[in-house]
Amino acid sequence: MNETTLGGSFTFPDTPLTVHRLGYGAMQLAGPGVWGPPRDPDAAVAVLRAAVAAGVNHIDTSDYYGPHVTNQIIRRALHPYPKGLVIVTKLGARRPPDKSWQPAISPQDLTAGVHDNLRNLGLDALDIVNYRVMGSGHAPGEGSIAEQVTVLADLQRRGLIRHLGVSNVTAAQLAEAQAITNIVCVQNHYNLAHRHDEALIAGLTRQGIAYVPFFPLGGFTPLQSSTLSAVADRLGFKPMQVALAWLLHKSPNILLIPGTSSVAHLRENLAAAQLTLSPETLAELDGIAS
Ligand SMILES: NC(=O)c1ccc[n+]([C@@H]2O[C@H](COP(=O)([O-])OP(=O)(O)OC[C@H]3O[C@@H](n4cnc5c(N)ncnc54)[C@H](OP(=O)(O)O)[C@@H]3O)[C@@H](O)[C@H]2O)c1
Repeated sequence: MNETTLGGSFTFPDTPLTVHRLGYGAMQLAGPGVWGPPRDPDAAVAVLRAAVAAGVNHIDTSDYYGPHVTNQIIRRALHPYPKGLVIVTKLGARRPPDKSWQPAISPQDLTAGVHDNLRNLGLDALDIVNYRVMGSGHAPGEGSIAEQVTVLADLQRRGLIRHLGVSNVTAAQLAEAQAITNIVCVQNHYNLAHRHDEALIAGLTRQGIAYVPFFPLGGFTPLQSSTLSAVADRLGFKPMQVALAWLLHKSPNILLIPGTSSVAHLRENLAAAQLTLSPETLAELDGIAS
């Protein structure tokens, strides 16, 4: 792996969109609990500008982060957007005043969500929209998503969305979406310790579709493992860097969107691309989940 290329590049299938494999997830830029403004909005702006200055050209967001706050910070930090920056957003949830996460899946909800994203990001069309299935929290739950994907495919035909992905899905839901439209990425919960999607990832690799793990560092409860710490000490890197490098080695269609509110952590995360893991070390890390 080579830091200058941020893990190399990946082209979303049947699109002109090519990104570095190491990107950035913007959820951590909202206030505590992904609600309201951050304590230090200037610091949030600085993280985004540092990411783009370092070569990041894939930013993951949603208008329900904040709500609206994260997209507004992205706009403040980066608009007019540099050529080649791919902003990926998601629809399927809303945040009522009690700060909970509720489904927003009617045709009206989805259409309004597209317009909220366009307005708050300052765009005429959204590069990629993931339909985020609420399922059972951070795990998928079976059930048809055909109606919602059909609505989004219609918004795509109207030119408001360029490409579609799905998030928090089962293999059956992915197949259902693919029967309706071209799906360019899947965003599910996956990391060193949480490995339910191995078979799904193998199938996506064969199809050239991006797999973008959410919670690559463990999310709200960052990964902790004595094996991970021991490997990191041995290699002279930080545990979070080893966790990201493991994902980069796992499969060439895995794209990373680690989230952080700190420029120091951002730099550490991007430097994970410098780390080459031997087959023996990869096997040792694989053992963490067993
Ligand atoms: N599709 C979905 O349902 C879904 C769900 C969740 C998230 N997402 C997306 O996925 C992205 C990534 O997920 P995430 O941000 O929730 O979790 P994550 O990337 O797994 O971890 C973020 C946590 O790790 C900490 N961290 C980051 N870099 C670190 C480092 N180098 N050393 C130590 N701690 C570090 C962050 O704290 P600091 O701020 O202090 O660095 C934060 O607490 C999100 O930003 C969002 O865009 C999507």
